[in-house]
Amino acid sequence: MSFFQGWVIPQVDDATRQNVLSKTAVLEQRLQDIAQRFDEARFASSLAVEDMVITDVIARLQLPIQIFTLQTGRLNVETSALIPQTEQRYGIALKVMEPVAEAVSEYEHTHGRDAFYESVDLRRECCRIRKIEPLNRAIVGADAWLTGQRREQSATREELPLEQHDANHNIAKFNPIFDWTELDVWAYVAAYDVPVNDLYHQHYPSIGCEPCTKPVRLGEDIRAGRWWWENKDTKECGLHK
Ligand code: ADX
Ligand code: SF4
Repeated sequence: MSFFQGWVIPQVDDATRQNVLSKTAVLEQRLQDIAQRFDEARFASSLAVEDMVITDVIARLQLPIQIFTLQTGRLNVETSALIPQTEQRYGIALKVMEPVAEAVSEYEHTHGRDAFYESVDLRRECCRIRKIEPLNRAIVGADAWLTGQRREQSATREELPLEQHDANHNIAKFNPIFDWTELDVWAYVAAYDVPVNDLYHQHYPSIGCEPCTKPVRLGEDIRAGRWWWENKDTKECGLHK
């Protein structure tokens, strides 16, 4: 009999529950400041739990920050289902960005639909077509964009600031929960009854496209299931270079 002891949603302790109230007040202030300083601030939501926390604050405070999501066409059904669920729950519309159909079919025709398993270059090319190019279109006309990245998520994010300059797009970029822990995030979810992707109940601590994400064992790195066949240092899709 095989037994997979997978990652589970962390249990929130009382101290974290208390602490997240003050962290929430800081987050609200950060988002209010961004909305005030910029005319066209847009938030990139992958529907990950971090992004649901930020969405909850934006919706609760009715901030003029547009929320968009990159529908790569390879998301899990659980992830795609969260788009209408989020819209209904908050009474907001998410802007759904899709890749250029011709670019997708050319990739599939030339290399094969799942060619990303064959090399880092082919994987990056798939991410470029399905994520980067749609992201570039999503932020045309924006003067700031926001992400749900956290320092704790990976070694490459350890020095992540609240505000940075995105030199590629020449606009401001914000990481409003850069200093939140995984436990803070789940404490917020419990406090505000935030809807989350069902995959978190199936041992997925980090969620990307379906063919490129696996469940993770208890104690393993939380990003171990992302592009699991690749070497640790190539595991970024290029959205945050
Ligand atoms: S990735 O670089 O490895 O793909 P990750 O999944 O950790 O990124 O997500 C980090 C942040 O990137 C998210 O909080 C979100 O702001 C943005 N992001 C990632 N994927 C998407 C997506 N499909 N749609 C919109 N934003 C995304
Ligand atoms: Fe393609 Fe995988 Fe990148 Fe999604 S994560 S765009 S399926 S290579």
